Amino acid sequence: MRRRLAEITTAFLRDLTGRWGFTRRARLKLRDLVARSGPPRWEAARDDLSFRYLRGDGIEIGALNMPLRVPPSARVRYVDHASADELREIYAWELHIHGWPLVPPDVVDDGERLRKFEDESLDFVIANHMLEHVEDPIGALHHFLRVLRPGGILFLTLPDARRTFDGRRPRTTVEHLMGDHREGPEVSRREHYEEWARIIESLPEEQVPARVEAFATERPRHHFHVWELDTFLEFLIALQPPADLEAAQATEKEFAVILRKNPGKRWPEPG
Ligand SMILES: C[S@@+](CC[C@H](N)C(=O)[O-])C[C@H]1O[C@@H](n2cnc3c(N)ncnc32)[C@H](O)[C@@H]1O
Repeated sequence: MRRRLAEITTAFLRDLTGRWGFTRRARLKLRDLVARSGPPRWEAARDDLSFRYLRGDGIEIGALNMPLRVPPSARVRYVDHASADELREIYAWELHIHGWPLVPPDVVDDGERLRKFEDESLDFVIANHMLEHVEDPIGALHHFLRVLRPGGILFLTLPDARRTFDGRRPRTTVEHLMGDHREGPEVSRREHYEEWARIIESLPEEQVPARVEAFATERPRHHFHVWELDTFLEFLIALQPPADLEAAQATEKEFAVILRKNPGKRWPEPG
């Protein structure tokens, strides 16, 4: 009797599987649930790259309230342009919406220049969602690579314009970045502020000039530049920094690029 019951059950299941792929669908659903129960993909990608590439002594510029998790073999000092109290004031809104505590900077320094850091003194530099706030990214990349030892790692993540509020903004061109570096970021500052007022704040045209004047006085650290993984890689290829591309990965909100300083390469002569 028990054997007969088992035979009927097996036949029933086989029938279900055959007709509707029931078991397969259940298995896929389960796999999906398991996959989604981990950290978000962007965080998992940051963790994975961090544990693969970071070790030794380094800095994270602009960790704010989201420091990168690093392996035990990596020692990090935190760098920001302002003290903890000032950052709490400037980023009150971001800190409030995330609810995560601020990481107090160990060193207050302009991350674009890193004047407090010697040449070739660090094993890694992390800058997550920082480079888009910088007016001259080429100058910043020069200094990131300057402070790295040969073989040191530059760990960058940037918001992917396709997935953020920057979506409607034009992607920053290589020519624009070269201009900001060669002639100084003042040449395009007003243009950035106008773009912000028009596209991000959607202000009516007659209010744009006053808003631009206010920005010119306040000097907010907007997203000056806008990239997605493709356009950032185009930028790097045009720039030819003295580094090798180790990894590049896009996730659901950002992209990561890992560069390793190559002592066998030199910055191209300014042309
Ligand atoms: C949007 S937050 C990034 C927070 C976090 N790292 C993340 O992954 O989301 C930008 C951070 O970069 C810092 N930052 C921007 N420009 C900087 C500069 N020139 N020097 C040092 N820190 C800077 C800001 O103060 C802030 O802490």
